[in-house]
Amino acid sequence: MRPLTLLGLLCLGTSATTSPFWYESINHNGINPTITNGHNWTVFRNVKDYGAIGDGIADDTAAIQRAIATGDSTGNRESGWFGSTGQPAVVYFPSGTYLVKSTIRSAIGTVIMGNPTDRPVIRAAADFSGTYLLFGRDRQRSGLVGFYHGIKNLVLDSTLVPATKGIALLEWSVSQGTQLSNVAFKMPVGSTHVGLLTAGMCSGLIMNDLEFQGGGTGILLTATQYHLKSISFKDVKTGIKFSSLVQGTGQGLRFENCDVGIDAAAAMVGMFSLIDSSATNTSTLLTAATITNSSFAGSLVLENVQVDSSTVKTANTTLLTGSISPDESWIRGNTYSPSSSNPQLLSAGQRIKTTRPLPLIISNTTYSYPTIPPPTYAEYTLSQIINIKDVSSHPVKGDGVTDDTANIQAILTSYSQSNTSTSAKDTAFYFPHGIYILTDTLYLPPGTRMIGEALTQLSASGEKFMDADKPRAMMQVGKPGEVGVAQLSDFVFTVADILPGVVSVEVNMRGEKVGDVGIWNCHFRVGGARGSKTRTACANPQTCLAARLSLHLTPSSSAYIENTWSWTADHDLDGGTGTVYPGTAAGFLIEAQHGTWILGSGVEHHVLYQINIHNAKNVFIGLQEGESAYWQGPGNKLLAPKPWAKSLLPSDPDFSWCAPDSEMCRMGLYQIITNSTDLNIYSSGFWNFVAGPNRAMCATDCQESAALYGSDNKRMHIYGFSTINNKNLIVEGSAGKGNTSRVGDVLAVATREANSGQMVDGLFKTAIVAAYLRYST
Ligand SMILES: *[C@@H]1O[C@H](CO)[C@@H](O)[C@H](O)[C@H]1NC(C)=O
Ligand SMILES: *[C@@H]1O[C@H](CO)[C@@H](O)[C@H](O)[C@H]1NC(C)=O
Ligand SMILES: *[C@@H]1O[C@H](CO)[C@@H](O)[C@H](O)[C@H]1NC(C)=O
Ligand SMILES: *[C@@H]1O[C@H](CO)[C@@H](O)[C@H](O)[C@H]1NC(C)=O
Ligand SMILES: *[C@@H]1O[C@H](CO)[C@@H](O)[C@H](O)[C@H]1NC(C)=O
Ligand SMILES: *[C@@H]1O[C@H](CO)[C@@H](O)[C@H](O)[C@H]1NC(C)=O
Ligand SMILES: *[C@@H]1O[C@H](CO)[C@@H](O)[C@H](O)[C@H]1NC(C)=O
Ligand SMILES: *[C@@H]1O[C@H](CO)[C@@H](O)[C@H](O)[C@H]1NC(C)=O
Repeated sequence: MRPLTLLGLLCLGTSATTSPFWYESINHNGINPTITNGHNWTVFRNVKDYGAIGDGIADDTAAIQRAIATGDSTGNRESGWFGSTGQPAVVYFPSGTYLVKSTIRSAIGTVIMGNPTDRPVIRAAADFSGTYLLFGRDRQRSGLVGFYHGIKNLVLDSTLVPATKGIALLEWSVSQGTQLSNVAFKMPVGSTHVGLLTAGMCSGLIMNDLEFQGGGTGILLTATQYHLKSISFKDVKTGIKFSSLVQGTGQGLRFENCDVGIDAAAAMVGMFSLIDSSATNTSTLLTAATITNSSFAGSLVLENVQVDSSTVKTANTTLLTGSISPDESWIRGNTYSPSSSNPQLLSAGQRIKTTRPLPLIISNTTYSYPTIPPPTYAEYTLSQIINIKDVSSHPVKGDGVTDDTANIQAILTSYSQSNTSTSAKDTAFYFPHGIYILTDTLYLPPGTRMIGEALTQLSASGEKFMDADKPRAMMQVGKPGEVGVAQLSDFVFTVADILPGVVSVEVNMRGEKVGDVGIWNCHFRVGGARGSKTRTACANPQTCLAARLSLHLTPSSSAYIENTWSWTADHDLDGGTGTVYPGTAAGFLIEAQHGTWILGSGVEHHVLYQINIHNAKNVFIGLQEGESAYWQGPGNKLLAPKPWAKSLLPSDPDFSWCAPDSEMCRMGLYQIITNSTDLNIYSSGFWNFVAGPNRAMCATDCQESAALYGSDNKRMHIYGFSTINNKNLIVEGSAGKGNTSRVGDVLAVATREANSGQMVDGLFKTAIVAAYLRYST
């Protein structure tokens, strides 16, 4: 144990008000089971143990870099010998000010993290040399494979640096499975400094709970998609500038004393939804490109946006002045009105009456959708945190080999809310990094809070999950009808073997309030990484029925889910070169009725569908990104619903509307929505980049249809729907699953031809629908 723990205890003794952050002083016994000598791998790295002083005077650059770069006896992390999942690390900053003189470089698998009760400051020295204070991704990997990075609970500060120096506080060209949360960016007012930028194309899902103060540009972004949630900009010249973005959502953005809130004027900005946001003393809230009738890039949706005098404009024209109230949407772009199958191009923007389902909003006075920061449990004392590996009566290993099911279950049960002997005091379970093998359903009773470390893995294994006809949950969040608290943060849910019957997470519980049942920064992974047979045994999806379903939100559940990526592997993250083609049946099945909030989600490469909303009610989605399986499409002969045709659930699409031999129709749908009501979805981005057994580049359409919507849905509001290389954006079937007696009985309503967007990289054809409101009444 580190000597600082003693200091922490002393502080506790002398000061009644400040208790140290539990994570700083808890026993750190995380391991990495998948590499040689990984039981000795150092996961937790307190920068002070590497020589950082944190007094704002000493130069801490080298010490911080040492904490990041330390590997093991075979080498240092910057040499990249450990793969993407082989080098988990938390580089931890106790409160203090850390002076830095040149760029700090992160590495893959690293979470750079401070004490949330008093966020540490990383400050660039006045004579700082370099372009970035913090280079947030791994230099050895492009941003498109920059997965599993994290930065949280910090202040990045350039206020000592001359105002005209070209400096950015953070380079953040990263992709899915990353987290940027609870960080303040402080820059000199009136300077040219940039808060965060992406130097190359990247594919992140969400950044959240950030503050930008001063500087020339807050966020400078080139990305496929993004959900920007709960971010404030004060005294920044331009809050956000998009160089390129196909599809995005801003939710809870606050601009104060800016020249421009959002600069979306570049021709490469496809579609942006701005909701529950405000601007004060900001002359232009948003600038957009001019819509032409060969490209609907520049499409917008604004809803519940309060401004004083700001405007929305193109280079030469003011499109909108004043606020947009909560019961209307201001829409610019191609719009499908109720009962019309031809889009109407609203190129100057138009207000349209709308509704938000009451169960989805915080109160009927603010009308905003709830946004919940990821929990840190910083308000808990050390004694309220149970290290799952330190309960001596129930030894848990997390070593990727031992079956930990029974002991974890016994520990969770003994602390559960219903156990009256312990319920007086809330607890949270800390799972040190490792791989925890579960051979049967782990039941999370009400009162369960679990937090991982640098994406702790919970991995299913064994006979119980092998029956494709009897899907079984690896984790069951409550029993149907149970009400209480169940929270999961910083985990990867995965499989150790080929498991045709596994449902990774099934949620049945709902809470007293939004966020009681919640999942933050948790990701699903099937294949493509160390620690699983699916890494090496899945060259053929026909024989590798790797998993059934990632996430099942059952009718009785109500959950808030923020920052989640369900990835069935398309390549090997850890350096193997073989073909990786696991066949996972499906991504998210949403049957929930009582309120579901999904912010920043990516669901990729599942055979039947990515997200299925079936018999559901009250669903909010802030941003959903999807890709079908790369092996599907032109040239592929394993046509959906194969290889799952014999084990379809009633909720599964059967593809009966497709011709029997249609390679482009029989591909995983991005989305299917049937018999559902009260749905508000703000950004959908569904991409086909490569397709078929040889992964040919999609220079033209690679898939027939992205989404299938039933004509039995009601009060369904679809805003901002974009595709890349997809012939039809939206088709409709009578009962949503086509007409089983007649091939071709779906109606192609929104086609790419009718909704053409911008070209990306001169190769990928985007299409954009601003609003699809055919079933909104
Ligand atoms: C881990 O380190 C300890 C001492 O530092 C050593 O005795 C042990 O052999 C090491 N274990 C492995 C698996 O390398
Ligand atoms: C309004 O914002 C400008 C910067 O855009 C600033 O100079 C001015 O002081 C602000 N006014 C108020 C009243 O805050
Ligand atoms: C599209 O362009 C054509 C030819 O320039 C023009 O006739 C037509 O009015 C335009 N349509 C719209 C909706 O702007
Ligand atoms: C905007 O105005 C500028 C200067 O008058 C002009 O050159 C440009 O063509 C105009 N742009 C559009 C899209 O009308
Ligand atoms: C808002 O909610 C309150 C309490 O549920 C209710 O009394 C009131 O009628 C509602 N107002 C509107 C406009 O729905
Ligand atoms: C309730 O908690 C106590 C203390 O942790 C434990 O001894 C007991 O077994 C628990 N009861 C149940 C039913 O799990
Ligand atoms: C439609 O969904 C509701 C639940 O909202 C369910 O009760 C009903 O049975 C479903 N109808 C069909 C035809 O499946
Ligand atoms: C399917 O199509 C047949 C033939 O057109 C029609 O009679 C039948 O009503 C349709 N079924 C449904 C469920 O729409």
